Formats: sequence, C-alpha cells, structure tokens
Amino acid sequence: MRTKYCGDIDIQDEGQEVSIAGWVHRRRDHGGVIFVDLRDREGLVQVVFNPENKDIFSEAERIRSEYVLAVKGKVRSRPDGTKNPNMKTGEIEVVATALDTLNDSLTPPFHHDENTNEEIRLKYRYLDLRRDNMQFNLRLRHKVTQALRIFLDENGFIDTETPMLTRATPEGARDYIVPSRTHQGKFFALPQSPQIFKQLLMMSGFDRYYQIVRCFRDEDLRADRQPEFTQLDIEMSFVDQDSVMSKMEALMRFVFKKVMDIALPDEFPRMSYAEAMHRFGSDKPDLRIPMELIDISDLMTNVEFKVFSGPAQDKEGRVAALKIPQGSKLSRKEIDDYTKFVGRYGAKGLAYIKAEDISKKKEGLQSPILKFLPDAVVDELIQKLSIENGDIVFFGADKSNIVNDSLGALRVKIGEDFGFIEEGWKPLWIVDFPMFEQDKNSNRWTSLHHPFTAPSIDSVKELEKNPGTVLSKAYDMVLNGSEIGGGSIRIHNKAMQAAVFKLLDISDEEAQEKFGFLLHALEYGCPPHGGIAFGLDRMIMLMSGAESIRDVIAFPKTQSASCPLTDAPGEVSPEQLKETGIRLRPVITETK
Ligand code: AMO
Ligand code: AMP
Repeated sequence: MRTKYCGDIDIQDEGQEVSIAGWVHRRRDHGGVIFVDLRDREGLVQVVFNPENKDIFSEAERIRSEYVLAVKGKVRSRPDGTKNPNMKTGEIEVVATALDTLNDSLTPPFHHDENTNEEIRLKYRYLDLRRDNMQFNLRLRHKVTQALRIFLDENGFIDTETPMLTRATPEGARDYIVPSRTHQGKFFALPQSPQIFKQLLMMSGFDRYYQIVRCFRDEDLRADRQPEFTQLDIEMSFVDQDSVMSKMEALMRFVFKKVMDIALPDEFPRMSYAEAMHRFGSDKPDLRIPMELIDISDLMTNVEFKVFSGPAQDKEGRVAALKIPQGSKLSRKEIDDYTKFVGRYGAKGLAYIKAEDISKKKEGLQSPILKFLPDAVVDELIQKLSIENGDIVFFGADKSNIVNDSLGALRVKIGEDFGFIEEGWKPLWIVDFPMFEQDKNSNRWTSLHHPFTAPSIDSVKELEKNPGTVLSKAYDMVLNGSEIGGGSIRIHNKAMQAAVFKLLDISDEEAQEKFGFLLHALEYGCPPHGGIAFGLDRMIMLMSGAESIRDVIAFPKTQSASCPLTDAPGEVSPEQLKETGIRLRPVITETK
C-alpha cells in the first residue's frame, strides 16, 4: 500500500513514483487545482490534484479533513516561488495519478492545530494523539525507555515483573482495591510501588533488578501526579548509598546523552535536606533560579514588630527574606496577588520593602513595616541582603515549615513570572533526610520515605532514644525543581525493621498481618541492599518540555481521576457485585 512515509519524501525522490497513505491535514481548492496536505506519523506532504485527471479530481473534491487516503503520484520539485522553507517536505510535491479514499471522517471536534480544553482532548484522545507534539512526546518516551533498557541490561540489571494484584504497599497514599470473587469479603490492593517485592528479589539473589512498572496511588492529583503512573524501579544488593547514587547518575547521563544529546554534569551536586530547606524552602529546589531565602531571624529577635519577633524567638519559627532584583516595579495589586498566593501555603501575610534610593538608607525605602523596625536593624538588613535600588524584598515570618513552603513556592513563582529561570539542566541529590517527622496534632511519627528505609545509625537503642534527630540513608534525585526519583538503602535486619514499625505505631499484630512475610524473609539471609524509583512520566515531562504529566501519557486520567474517553470508572452489573459479595450503599452526597 505504501512505498514511503509522507514526511520522508524529499528532493532526492524527484521524478519517482511513490505510494503514500495518511490523513487529510488540510485541503485547499485553488481555482481548478486541489492541494491536499497528507499527513502520516513522519509529517506532511503536499499532494496536487489536477482537473485533467477527471476521475480522481472529482473524488478529491469530495474529501475533507481527516479522511484517510492512499495516493499514488509522481514527486516533482515545486515551482519557484511556491517552495516552503518552513516545511520539511517544502521543496517538493506529489502530483497524484491515483487516489483511493480508504475512509471518510466526521468533522473533527477540533482542528489539529487548535488549542481546545483538556476534557474534549481526553474524550477524543485518538484525535488528540494525532497532533505533532503528542506524537513527539510519546515517541520521546519510547526512546527514553529504550535507552534505559540498554543501559540497565549492559549493567547487569534483570527485568522482572511483580504482581499487580497484591496487598497494600506502604507508600503513604490510599490504595486502589479490587474485590476478590474467590475469597469473598477480601480485597487485593493494586501496588503503590513494587517496593516489598523488589526487596524480596534481592533476598532471592538476583542482585540487580529493574522494572518499568505501573504504580497506583489514590491521592490528590496535580500537574505532575497521576493515579496510575510509571516508575523505573531499581534495586541492588551488596551496595552502599554512594554506589547506588553514582550508578544512577551514570544512567541519567547515558539517557540524556543518547536521547537528547545533552551532557549532564559528571557528578551531580549533593545537598542535605536541612540545607535545601534553609536556602530554598524546598526539598526539590530548582537550581536554575538564582535567588535564595536568607534567614534574618537573628536580626528580628528584639524588634517591636511582633509578627517578626514572635517567630524569631520561637525554636520552631523562622523569619526569612527573599530579595527580587528589580522587583520594586511591582504594583500594589501584584503584591496583593502574591500575598494571596503565599496564603495558600498558610502564610498570614507577605511583608515587603521596596528600595528606591538606598543612599538615603531608611528614607529611601518604602514599606508598611518600616515604622516597626529600628534604623540599625534596617541598616543591617540592607547590608545582609545587599539590597540595591529597584529591588523588592519579601518577608515570611511563622513556623519554619510555613515560611519554607510559602517563600519556597514564591521563589519559583517569581522565577517564572520574572523570567529568571536559566536555560539548562540542573540535577542534584538531596540527602540526609530525617528518618521521621512528627505529626503536630497526634504527635505520631511518620516515615519521611517509607518504613523500609535504613537509618544512618546501626543501633536500635539509639534510634529509639532519638527518633526525631536520626537521619536516614535516603536520597532523592531532583531535576530542575522536580523530584524525579527517590530511594534508599534498606533495613536488612529484623530487629531494626521491627523497631521502626514500632516507632511508627504499627503494632506487632498489624506488622505481622501486613508485612509478616517480609519480616519472616529477613530471617533467611537477607543481603544488604538498596535502590531507587524514578517517576518515568515526570522525567519525560521535563525532557519534552510538556507542562502536564498528562501530555506524556497516551491515555491519562483527569484531575478527578476519571477517563472521559472510556467513561471509567463505571458502574458494574448487579451480577458482578453479587459474585464478589458486595452490596452498595445509596450514594450519600456530602454537604459541607
Ligand atoms: P516514591 O514514592 O518517592 O518512592 O516514588 C518514586 C518516584 O515516582 C514518582 N511519583 C509519581 N509520579 C506521578 N504520579 C504520582 N502520583 C507519583 N508518585 C510518585 C516521583 C517519585 O520520585 N518504592 C519507593 C522507591 C524506592 O525506595 O526505591 C517509591 O515508590 O518522581
Ligand atoms: P499588619 O500589621 O497585619 O498590617 O501587617 C503588616 C505587614 O506584614 C503586611 O504587609 C502583612 O502582609 C505582613 N505580614 C503579616 N503577617 C505576616 C507574616 N506572618 N509573615 C510575613 N509578613 C506578614
């Protein structure tokens, strides 16, 4: 049916007969001559239908956008003045000698080049996927997975599948559950990750495992989260933290070089969690933005302004500043909008100082809070922050986590709004995470990673004594402000694993019930091991420049975890419910 892809025909083919097939991208009637841009996965080519060839000309008059055609014709150089340098095949055209309309099409709900809302795009995903950028993204995804597999195979990693119908896996989200027909009243959980299985594979002696695997998490969705997403999941035996990290850096360098011809740094910088929070208010700092939070708690301990002195005196509080070069042009309304923005992260306000003429010291500044600050403090502020004319400085004062979250997010937002984000790729590792964090309300400890992550100390006693200060052997890979991977060295000792469960308030019975098989396996010769999982969708999103993870997944879910194309989730028949022993309650609409 076809001798060449439309998009592959070029001037070398001049004079040749070709058979092509594809979709009508556009049809133009030029008084007597009909031009059709025919599209296939490799691109467009212009096909010319002349009126002399009566049969096919009258058929060509009938065709419309997205009809499917098979065309035979002769390649010729386009006449001078009609060449299109913006088109890959712009030098040539195909003069049709035969036309077979393989299929008609309804008028599509949106044109190939038209921006339309996402609900419609997802409903007609098969049409949406015909667009160039979607074709590009999914083909990039293919190239990335190919490159990953090449590297991993060459490095001795064995691709092994793990179950989808399983028990709850502890990654902190809600489970998707599947009722069992053969064990009524019981449910499978879809895996939030293959975490426990890959650890078991290490215990089985596979030594190096990988899998490109779907994971399921019922959590609040955002631009970079999907309820089902893909991990590149990896585990290695007899390794320490450094060897996992350096192997994974090599993997990333290989993939970026092979797929995009981009040279990532020879060694990725490493930063402790504490330093990242302090300097960037985030555990996934975007190092392309040249601004940092500056701590000014020490300057504010004794000022009259309670909004600042309170948090400055509080052990858990923080007062920090974010200086925006040339930001004093911001209007009242824009500052109000940023104040609302930080409000979403819990900030109660957003104090600011604009610098108009620094030579006049306090007199040259403009701010609603200056009246609360002594001259000496203002002078020190100017010094410490190296404030220059035209700058604006924003302040956050509150519990540290609120200041970090709000100013950390503001840093990124302003980086985007002001065009401060530098070109390029800035990977880094975040290390030295705390092992646990404490829930403010319940005082309960929760794992910062998952409960199989090893602490940086070997003593169970010490861990039990100081759970709040112990660090873990966990590491996250961050690229341009996005957490693309996370992993750790695992606990391979039963006493330590049991102690961690206990600290997490998981009772012996619960631990036995949920993870008894893992605890038991730990008693049969478990090698030291560790690993990581990368968010493949997030990686592709960054590499393709897409703004949403949904643009790199062929058939994604909406923000509310549904699929407009298939209308999933759907109802099931009474028979299916009966077979699985489920009776539905009438749907209760929540009123707030
Ligand atoms: P973690 O939970 O950090 O670790 O997940 C690993 C990576 O997966 C990506 N990711 C997601 N991507 C899209 N949508 C989601 N809902 C989503 N959730 C996570 C992120 C993240 O860095 N078992 C451990 C890994 C290990 O310890 O080896 C785990 O799953 O890019
Ligand atoms: P007020 O005294 O409440 O009018 O606040 C004076 C200035 O401080 C305003 O610009 C507020 O936006 C700002 N502000 C109030 N609370 C905070 C806070 N917790 N952190 C930073 N700025 C604040």
